[in-house]
Amino acid sequence: MNSNIVLIGFMGCGKSSIGRRLAKRLGHEFLDTDDLIIAHAQGTSISELFANDGEERFRERESAELRELVEAKDIVLATGGGAILREENRALLHRIGRIVWLHADPETLFERASRNRKRPLLDVENPRSTFNALLESRLPIYESAADIQVDATGLPHEQTVDEIIRVLAVGDVPKASSGAS
Ligand code: S3P
Repeated sequence: MNSNIVLIGFMGCGKSSIGRRLAKRLGHEFLDTDDLIIAHAQGTSISELFANDGEERFRERESAELRELVEAKDIVLATGGGAILREENRALLHRIGRIVWLHADPETLFERASRNRKRPLLDVENPRSTFNALLESRLPIYESAADIQVDATGLPHEQTVDEIIRVLAVGDVPKASSGAS
């Protein structure tokens, strides 16, 4: 197995900030599927891509980025919250590296996910009910796609990184890890 780490999880769980720190600690390169999509779309933002081309086209771009990464080495990859929706993507993510589901309680996720308007799926009239419905439908997918789970609720980012490294070192046996008590 290569040493790549793939972070999955709902919007607002901290994949990018935690992933960046984790990469630094491991001496890996940090990549983020949203950033790769934006770079390949000549800087067009995620919100503009959703507005101009629709979600399905965005999902195609996401899959295209993942296909490019199957040979990547020594990376920490943060994925968009919906990257696990396609079966093709889930298979690609498993080929890329060990999949860590970064989770947090719904209040934390909602507060962080709605801090800015960079998330088109929540830029709607009633973001909380959309958030609830998306979270409910996706939780089982994160759970089954993950090799390892880490609950970041209440943990500062550096401690979440410690926890991810600890759980990775233990191996795949304990699927769940609770951060804060
Ligand atoms: C999405 C999550 C976003 C981004 C896009 C769609 C989703 O990424 O890919 O807005 O479907 O959950 P983050 O999880 O980094 O916010």
